[in-house]
Amino acid sequence: MPPRNWNPTTVVQAVLWILLGLWPWPEPGTASLPFLMDSVIQALAELEQKAPVTKASHTASVWQLSAQDPGPHDPLHHFLLDGQSLRATKLDLLALSPELRGLIEEAARHDVRGRQEYGVVLAPDGSTVAVEPLLAGLKAGLQRQRVINLPLDSTATPPGAGATFPDVGAVVPDVRATSPGLRDASPDVSSTDVGAMSLNVRATDPNMGAIFPDVRDSSSDVQVTSLDNQTSSLDAKAKSPTTVDSLLVVTLARDLGLTFLQGPQTQSHPGLGAEGCWDQLSNPRNFTLLDPGASLLTTAFLNGALDGVLLGDYLSRAPEPRPPLSHLLSQYYGAGVAGDPGFRSNFRRQNGAALTSAPALIQQVWGTLILLQRLEPAHPQLQGMSQEQLAQVATLATKEYTEAFLGCPAIHPRCRWGAAPYRGRPKPLRLPLGFLYVHHTYLPASPCTAFERCAAKMRSMQRFHQDTQGWDDIGYSFVVGSDGYVYEGRGWHWVGAHTLGHNSRGFGVAIVGNYTAELPADAALSTVRDVLPRCAVRAGLLRPDYAVLGHRQLVRTECPGDALFHLLSTWPHFDANVKPRIARRASRISKKKLPPVTLPATGLQ
Ligand SMILES: *[C@@H]1O[C@H](CO)[C@@H](O)[C@H](O)[C@H]1NC(C)=O
Ligand SMILES: *[C@@H]1O[C@H](CO)[C@@H](O)[C@H](O)[C@H]1NC(C)=O
Ligand SMILES: *[C@@H]1O[C@H](CO)[C@@H](O)[C@H](O)[C@H]1NC(C)=O
Repeated sequence: MPPRNWNPTTVVQAVLWILLGLWPWPEPGTASLPFLMDSVIQALAELEQKAPVTKASHTASVWQLSAQDPGPHDPLHHFLLDGQSLRATKLDLLALSPELRGLIEEAARHDVRGRQEYGVVLAPDGSTVAVEPLLAGLKAGLQRQRVINLPLDSTATPPGAGATFPDVGAVVPDVRATSPGLRDASPDVSSTDVGAMSLNVRATDPNMGAIFPDVRDSSSDVQVTSLDNQTSSLDAKAKSPTTVDSLLVVTLARDLGLTFLQGPQTQSHPGLGAEGCWDQLSNPRNFTLLDPGASLLTTAFLNGALDGVLLGDYLSRAPEPRPPLSHLLSQYYGAGVAGDPGFRSNFRRQNGAALTSAPALIQQVWGTLILLQRLEPAHPQLQGMSQEQLAQVATLATKEYTEAFLGCPAIHPRCRWGAAPYRGRPKPLRLPLGFLYVHHTYLPASPCTAFERCAAKMRSMQRFHQDTQGWDDIGYSFVVGSDGYVYEGRGWHWVGAHTLGHNSRGFGVAIVGNYTAELPADAALSTVRDVLPRCAVRAGLLRPDYAVLGHRQLVRTECPGDALFHLLSTWPHFDANVKPRIARRASRISKKKLPPVTLPATGLQ
C-alpha cells in the first residue's frame, strides 16, 4: 500500500533527478537487476513506499546537488516540466536499494551508440521500451496544465533562465474537460486551438492522404479519421501554432522534430523504427540493434514515447487520488488499465493512432521546433530556419512516424521469440511480390493471447517444421497472434515454405488457431486484411495491386478453415477467380491419382 501522503509527481521527479545527472553515472553494464519493465515497476513501488521522506538534511543535500548541477541537457524539459518543483521535492533517493538505484541510473537515459541501444527494458508483452520518454510522459501527465502558450515574441527569456520561469509560461485553461478522451471517437488530442488544422498538408505533400486509412482500436472500435478528410475543407494558408501540449512535446514531438531536422530530408527515413535483440530474454542485459545506421527514433524509443503519451493522457484526466504509478504500469504492461484489455501496451499503436490525429501532431512538432528555436537561439540546425521550413520538417516527420510506425503492425523479430537459426542457405525473394496467402496454423488450435504463449507456439512450430518436416525453417513468412503482435517467420526477404508451388510469388501469413468454425480476433483480422499489406505496399515489398488468396485456392487443403476462408472472400484484395482446389477435387479424382493425404498443418510445402 502506498503511504497516505504519497505523491506520484514526487516519484517521477525523483527518477528525473537521476536523469538530470544529480547522481554519479555508472559504467554501462554495472546494474545488477535485469532490464525488465518489472524491475522498473519494482523501483517505482519502492520509491512509492519511501516517498515522501521529509528529513530536512536530506532535502538540503538535494538542494545542494541541484544547485551544483542546475543544467539539464534539455532546456525544453526545464521550460515545460521542471522549474521550482524540482528543487522543492523532498525525497531521499539514497534510501533506495543499491540494485534499484543502479537499474534506474542505467535504464533512465535513452541513447544509441553504434549498434547498442541504452535505457531500454523488455516488457512482458515482448516489446522493448525506452524508459526516458515513458517517464517524461508520466510526469507531464501529472501536471495540471498541459497546454502551454508559445513564447512567440522575440523577447522570450533566454534558455539559461529556463528553470525559473515554467510558471510564467502563460498557461491556458485545461481543455481536457471539453476535449475528447482516449476512448472517444474523435482522434484530436488537444484543444481546438492546438489541434486547429490550418496547415494545408496536401499542398506540400500529395501523399499524406493514406496516413490512417483504417487503424482500428481492437476493443473500442475507434475509427481513425484520415488526414484527407480532415484537411479537405481547410484553406491553403499555413498558420503557425501558438500553443503546444507539453505531454506530446516531451515524449515524442521534440525527438521527432530534431531527428528529421538533422537527418536526410528524404521521403524514406531509414533510421526510424529500428528493432534489436536482447542478449538473453530471461535476464536481459544488453540490447543490440539489427540496423547499424539507426537514428534515436528506434522502435523502443517510439514504444516508450507512445506509452508515455497514452499513460500521461490517462493520468492527466484521472481524478484524485491518482493511481500509484507502479500499479498503473503493472496494469498497462499486464492485463490492461482498469480492467480494459484494449488499453495495454500490446495495442499501443492502435491507441496512439486513435489519440492523436496526424494534423494535430504536425502542429505539435512544428510548435516544438518553434519553441526550441526560441529557447535555444544558438541551436545549429534551427538557426535561420523559416516557419515554412520548420512546418515542412514537422510534416515529413509526422508522415514517417504515422505511416512507417503507427500504420505498420508491431512485428516481433525472430530473436524475440527465440528462433533457432535457419538451416542451410535462405533463398532471396524478388520483391515486390504480388500475393498474400492466408493460412491458419490449425495446430496449435487455440489462438494465443499473450507473448509467452505465442513465442512458445512459434518455437514449437519451428521445431516441427525443421525436425519433423525436415524444412530449413518455420514455413510461414509471418505468424499473427491474438496478442496484438505479428511474429517474424522467414520475413520479407526470404522464400518461405507455406504454399506449395507458389512460395516465391507471395508471402505466407498464418493466424495462430483453428478457424474452421470460429473467426480470429478482430485485431488479428485487421492486421492481415489492412495493416500488414498496407505497410508492405508502402515499403515496396508488396505490389499495390496484390491479391489475397486462401491457402486452399492453390493447394488441396482445408486451410485457412471454412470460417476464415468465407470471411476472406469478402476482403477487397481477395481474388475470387482462383477457385478453391478442395471444391475441384471431385472432378480431378477421376483424372488423376490423389496425392498422399497430409494433415493440414503439414501440407504447407
Ligand atoms: C469526413 O468523414 C466523415 C465520416 O466519414 C464525414 O461525415 C464528413 O463529412 C467528412 N468531412 C469532410 C470534410 O469530408
Ligand atoms: C552487447 O552485445 C554485443 C553483441 O552481442 C557485444 O558486441 C557487446 O560487447 C555487448 N556489450 C556489453 C556491454 O556486454
Ligand atoms: C478444428 O475445429 C473444428 C471445428 O470446430 C473441429 O472439428 C476440429 O476438431 C478442430 N481441430 C483441432 C485440431 O482442434
